[in-house]
Amino acid sequence: MVLGNWKMNGLPASLGMLTQIASAAGEQAPLIGIAVPHPMIAAAAAIAPELVIGAQDVHERRSGAHTGCVSAEMVKACGASFAIVGHSERREQFGETAAIIRDKVRRAQEAGLRAVICCGEPGSIRQSGSTVEYVIDQLAASIPPDTDAASLTIAYEPCWAIGTGATPSQHEIAAIHDAIRIWCSREYEAPSVIPVIYGGSVDPSVAAELVRLPAISGFLVGGASLKTDQLLSIIHACHSGQPNKLSEQTSFQSS
Ligand code: PGA
Repeated sequence: MVLGNWKMNGLPASLGMLTQIASAAGEQAPLIGIAVPHPMIAAAAAIAPELVIGAQDVHERRSGAHTGCVSAEMVKACGASFAIVGHSERREQFGETAAIIRDKVRRAQEAGLRAVICCGEPGSIRQSGSTVEYVIDQLAASIPPDTDAASLTIAYEPCWAIGTGATPSQHEIAAIHDAIRIWCSREYEAPSVIPVIYGGSVDPSVAAELVRLPAISGFLVGGASLKTDQLLSIIHACHSGQPNKLSEQTSFQSS
């Protein structure tokens, strides 16, 4: 799968890009999802029904006096199929704790959204050589114990690789993805239903290299998801080799 994260970018006029992506993606395209800003979710879902549309965040409560916030149920009703939860920018800029993120995963899943839970280490942790322990601890703390594995995706995004043009080596990425998969197999009865995707400065050449790693199920793409040609090149790098109908997105629909 290729998931785009537009962050705080784009306007309704930018949504035409989604129809271009849908029509140029091709028969063998992977599942394509775009997390647009909240005000554009409904329009994005209407303009590009071939794609899955997501939210970049949801609130940890179902409803109430939380001025300026948006609930999982709201984004679901507007046409979202997934929600990114626990992105490092939310953790850093908004002080989101693991306990808050756990509740966000719960709210997303109970609303019928796939929760795309982000994890990843800061540069200092990488330098200390404790990336695997840090990321596994982060996942264990941020995913509710009773989570619905069939509605979960794990995105490994090293903080120091986001928006910097720097990426870990293939060896580092393979090691951490393997560790995440081993952890999932201890925690969940059907761990193979949980896609583990990589994010952090993914561009077409990074995608073409990393897509060969068996432990990688796809990518979460920030900056490059704002450019039609870049995103299409990433999608083409991920062609599955099997006919795939973009409309068959059952794994991203609510159960
Ligand atoms: P980037 O962002 O691709 O611009 O590094 C990734 C992300 O934050 O999800």
